[in-house]
Amino acid sequence: MAGEFDWSKVDWQKISESYEAYRDFLMERIKRKQLGYRKLFDLTGRVAIITGGAGGLGLPTALALSDFGAKVVLVGRDVGKLAEAVNLVKEAGGDGMYVQADVTKEGDVKKMVQHVVDTYGRIDILVTFAGINIPSHPAEEYPLENWHKVIETNVTGVFLTCREVGKVMIKQRRGKIINVASVRAFFGLPGNYVAYCTSKSAVVGLTRQLAVEWAKYNIQVNAIAPTVILTPLTAHIPRNPQLSQLMKSRILLGRWAVPDDVVGAIIYFASDASNFVTGQVLLIDGGVTSWA
Ligand SMILES: NC(=O)c1ccc[n+]([C@@H]2O[C@H](COP(=O)([O-])OP(=O)(O)OC[C@H]3O[C@@H](n4cnc5c(N)ncnc54)[C@H](OP(=O)(O)O)[C@@H]3O)[C@@H](O)[C@H]2O)c1
Repeated sequence: MAGEFDWSKVDWQKISESYEAYRDFLMERIKRKQLGYRKLFDLTGRVAIITGGAGGLGLPTALALSDFGAKVVLVGRDVGKLAEAVNLVKEAGGDGMYVQADVTKEGDVKKMVQHVVDTYGRIDILVTFAGINIPSHPAEEYPLENWHKVIETNVTGVFLTCREVGKVMIKQRRGKIINVASVRAFFGLPGNYVAYCTSKSAVVGLTRQLAVEWAKYNIQVNAIAPTVILTPLTAHIPRNPQLSQLMKSRILLGRWAVPDDVVGAIIYFASDASNFVTGQVLLIDGGVTSWA
């Protein structure tokens, strides 16, 4: 696989004895053109499943993973949107397919994973973007029906997808899972977010537990936790003076985030560059959470 250097052959005893030996070792790698740092991010030959892959953040992620060489599998319920999204990936020079599946349905998820394995023979990367928010009522009146919908999609859907893809990755003895949490996993927001915040906190818990259980199989499980990223779903926020004032004033970098602000982190977690990182949650928030 790209990006791999056989560290088991390195003579650490010799290196521990002198700095010169370390420099010689690096020089040898340079001469043999074995540095390969760029290859750390190379995803050529990798297969990536992106749930919610036709969505506002899922599609740029699919394009980015594909740009780094991965074959992408876009998952969602709306076949029309998925087909258009795959066309965009191909238009950009990438390769991939879509699979229709509702992530809340165990049978759908199992069939989707089997189809990917039958088609490509492996799954290297999973990104779980499929998610919803129903900010319908304040907590004291929040309907149980909406609560169940949000928890089913954002928690059960992520669990089911990780579980089924995890089985394949366990057999392969390698894999990268990137779950999509939110800044709302850690901080509330005035605005009927009781189910959403709870669900995203659960995604963080799930990510850490999977990282612990699957580290022995060389599967790295991490999460991203973005603040508002401008997509078709959120593009109205800057036009709402109250929300805009409340949220943007806290973003230290002084601007709204755009989809490209998310994809770099995903490429990192999907690639060999993060092979020693698991159970982590990266806040992508322009500095919002670095001050109280
Ligand atoms: N945008 C932001 O500002 C922001 C910030 C923090 C976190 N996030 C998180 O990022 C994720 C994606 O957000 P987004 O802005 O890209 O939203 P989006 O455009 O609405 O995309 C969500 C995607 O999830 C899919 N989906 C929903 N329910 C599903 C189900 N039961 N089964 C399969 N697919 C399902 C939808 O496709 P179908 O309708 O075809 O099923 C859609 O493509 C969400 O988890 C969200 O909470 C977003």
